[in-house]
Amino acid sequence: MKKGFIFDLDGVIVDTAKYHYLAWKKLANELGFEFTKEQNELFKGVSRKRCLEILLEIGKREATQKEFDTWMVEKNVDYLKYIENMDASEILPDVTKVLSFLKEQNIPIALGSASKNAQPILEKVGLLHYFDAIVDGNNVTKAKPDPEVFLLAAKQLGVNAADCVVFEDAVAGVEAANAAKMISIGIGDQKILSEAVHNFNDFTEISTDFIQELIDK
Ligand code: BG6
Ligand code: MG
Repeated sequence: MKKGFIFDLDGVIVDTAKYHYLAWKKLANELGFEFTKEQNELFKGVSRKRCLEILLEIGKREATQKEFDTWMVEKNVDYLKYIENMDASEILPDVTKVLSFLKEQNIPIALGSASKNAQPILEKVGLLHYFDAIVDGNNVTKAKPDPEVFLLAAKQLGVNAADCVVFEDAVAGVEAANAAKMISIGIGDQKILSEAVHNFNDFTEISTDFIQELIDK
């Protein structure tokens, strides 16, 4: 059966979690409370809107609809400044090795991200040409852990869901991949991503032999 490979963006291809963190921390500080790196773990894979809701819960802040909308925009304006100068040096180690290996074998590749900034980031780091489909926060109505983003990616690739492999760094993302009945590969702390079918700290631990086994399965 034809296989498809789906990559999350933030925390899998590039370490943008640090820029999301800086932008949320700036907003929290302006609103008069702290926001820690540990709390930022809760934001991984989660939509911008849900992140702001969680941030306000952390700071025990109420917001009018107008304030909520203003802060959503403000966070993104700050985030865009942080990512403005991103380039290929910010691609996480050995991601390109895996993308190139898949491409050489004509295996379809999709992006499955919650971010509405996904495409410009792929352009900045020069990886856009690897992707046959891009499904991101602009195309889905239900956020991870709902499987919608990955099911839509599989559909666009023309591959059965059960024949897709998903690389994810977020608990919500691993849950979404599992709910889609795909082969989930956790990238990061195995203790946090224990629900994944396979676990690696990063792509340097993933051999092309392992990718070949997934293709041949
Ligand atoms: C996910 C990140 O990929 O995208 C989340 O892990 C982020 O932290 C979400 O909130 C939405 O991103 P953006 O760029 O649309 O604000
Ligand atoms: Mg991620």
